[in-house]
Amino acid sequence: MQITTLYGEVVIPSAPYLTNLLRTMYDGDLCFGEALKRPMVICNFVQTLDGIVSFKIPGKSGGAEISGHNQEDAFIMAVLRACADAVMIGEETFRNAPGHVWTAGAVFPALADEFRTFRKQAGKISLHPLNVIVSGRGHVDLNQSLFRQTEIKSLVLTTQQGAARLRQQYGATLPATVRVLPGNDVLAPADMMTLLRTEYGIQLLLHEGGPSLLAAFLEQRWIDELFLTVSPQIVGRGPTGERPSFSGPLKLPPEQAQWGKLLSVKCAAKSGHLFLRYQPNEWREPQDE
Ligand SMILES: NC(=O)c1ccc[n+]([C@@H]2O[C@H](COP(=O)([O-])OP(=O)(O)OC[C@H]3O[C@@H](n4cnc5c(N)ncnc54)[C@H](OP(=O)(O)O)[C@@H]3O)[C@@H](O)[C@H]2O)c1
Repeated sequence: MQITTLYGEVVIPSAPYLTNLLRTMYDGDLCFGEALKRPMVICNFVQTLDGIVSFKIPGKSGGAEISGHNQEDAFIMAVLRACADAVMIGEETFRNAPGHVWTAGAVFPALADEFRTFRKQAGKISLHPLNVIVSGRGHVDLNQSLFRQTEIKSLVLTTQQGAARLRQQYGATLPATVRVLPGNDVLAPADMMTLLRTEYGIQLLLHEGGPSLLAAFLEQRWIDELFLTVSPQIVGRGPTGERPSFSGPLKLPPEQAQWGKLLSVKCAAKSGHLFLRYQPNEWREPQDE
């Protein structure tokens, strides 16, 4: 695999962040803004040339089919997971990846030890990011192996009704850590962020979608950076538009469109994949502060 930086290298020679090996493979270093009163939120998606992020075909609806199982894309996803204190996913993305755990080593196993070394060197409090699953209605399969891991901590965020549904299904003592937040079916990004920052010490949150969950964060302008892989295939949205883009149901008028500042462009020249890094919004503090 080979990643080449075409624009916007972020290098801090005096204080490199990634390990030597990861910096060489990423063709540059990474650094993120400092979390203040809320976690900094970065998101990572892979889309086709025509903007599709899921085939919406059972068993073939994940990012791997969109990237064509591209190694460079998997490596960047792994680096972002290695940098993150927590990874967040919506219930459908969770359901579509049975047996998966949201760690760096799970997407790039060849460097699992290197990612552990990096996290220790970077002073992370755990070897893996906290895996956060969001399900307002409480439809999460708590029998998934993620909830039996000892080294990987996980958390389900849901509503009062969602927790009641889970207790009905799994009994009073749930086999996973479940936290209740206000809301009827839908949780507010602000509540999730406050909980993660104040009770779990999360500074850098990696949002891995899917589009429905991301739309709420985009709407509220909570996304600080977007890492977007463009995969050189065209697949079509379908006659009823059933295949989503990464912004899902979001619908902004032109005057509220979120414009991005380009931070870097990398490529995998052989396969033709592009790796874009944008800053969609200026840094924003929570509205109530
Ligand atoms: N190409 C890529 O990079 C990429 C990345 C991620 C995902 N994907 C794909 O995208 C598809 C899934 O996307 P999706 O948009 O359909 O689903 P999703 O966002 O992963 O999950 C939707 C579910 O998450 C919960 N949810 C979302 N927002 C919520 C909120 N604000 N409060 C409470 N719960 C919330 C709800 O669960 P309940 O119904 O249980 O309340 C909702 O039904 C999958 O095929 C996945 O593989 C692709």
